[in-house]
Amino acid sequence: MPEPIYRIAPSILSADFARLGEEVHTVIAAGADWIHFDVMDNHYVPNLTFGPMVLEAIKPHAARADGSAALLDVHMMVQPVDELAQAFVRAGAGLISFHPEACGHPHRSVQAIKAAGCQVGLAFNPATPLDVLDWLIEDIDLILIMSVNPGFGGQSFIDSALRKIEAARRRIDASGRDIRLQVDGGIKPANIRRVAQAGADTFVAGSAIFGKPDYAAVIADMRQALKNPR
Ligand code: DX5
Ligand code: ZN
Repeated sequence: MPEPIYRIAPSILSADFARLGEEVHTVIAAGADWIHFDVMDNHYVPNLTFGPMVLEAIKPHAARADGSAALLDVHMMVQPVDELAQAFVRAGAGLISFHPEACGHPHRSVQAIKAAGCQVGLAFNPATPLDVLDWLIEDIDLILIMSVNPGFGGQSFIDSALRKIEAARRRIDASGRDIRLQVDGGIKPANIRRVAQAGADTFVAGSAIFGKPDYAAVIADMRQALKNPR
């Protein structure tokens, strides 16, 4: 079986908000593949972060030295979803994930994000079943498995997420589609290999990277741990 192409997506939730552009630039230079942008509304989750205007402001800082740009991976923990999702598309999001239980019509929300020219993902809380994928797996680009309850950085990985990652991997393989399997919450060099073994290929990490003095060293440790995971 070919080695998966792994993606590391640092969450700027744990970055220094007073120096956000610089933090984004630094973490990309340190080897980040994507920038994970955690949007919280103090309604769907008990915390409040940032919106489309902040995404637009950091976009120029997401350029790499070779001229390419890191994908801006927007994780919407908001209710309702639809209007804000369109504002994120206009602001420059490359991929938008939302929680299906946060909107009345997830199928419609998926189609609307796709129609606007953006990739789309579905996010699943630790106690949310994957059943909605029975009806939406043909339409999405990414499945996001939450390995903590959404709302805060720096929480511990919930082990039952491993079984859910395995279940999501089986669904992706059965679909035959090119769908990323992202895991979000409590990821660090010490557990990333186990998470990859369960079937994940895209890893969000906030406090494990932005909490440390040398971002490149942490990302290199993660990539080292990911080598030959099977
Ligand atoms: C939690 C967010 C996560 C969080 C991850 O609601 O979705 O992206 O920032 O942070 P760590 O890596 O610190 O658990
Ligand atoms: Zn997130």
